[in-house]
Amino acid sequence: MSEPKIAFRHPAQVQLEAGKTYAWCRCGLSANQPFCDGSHKVTEFRPLVWRAAESGEAWLCQCKHTKTPPFCDGTHETL
Ligand code: FES
Repeated sequence: MSEPKIAFRHPAQVQLEAGKTYAWCRCGLSANQPFCDGSHKVTEFRPLVWRAAESGEAWLCQCKHTKTPPFCDGTHETL
């Protein structure tokens, strides 16, 4: 599996909490999109773990082809 699976061709709207750590699914196999559920263990992918800088709404990529992970950059419209 060298290419991630396209989980959805649209981003997920989520509410982030400042200072909280999140794990964004990179492989596309998670059943808990856009977050990691451990499904990557059978792939070479690893989740992107990051700490939210501020609280509020965010649009996280679910097509797994964004150039600005974990955030949607519109690339899903070209797939
Ligand atoms: S959902 Fe992946 S770039 Fe928008």
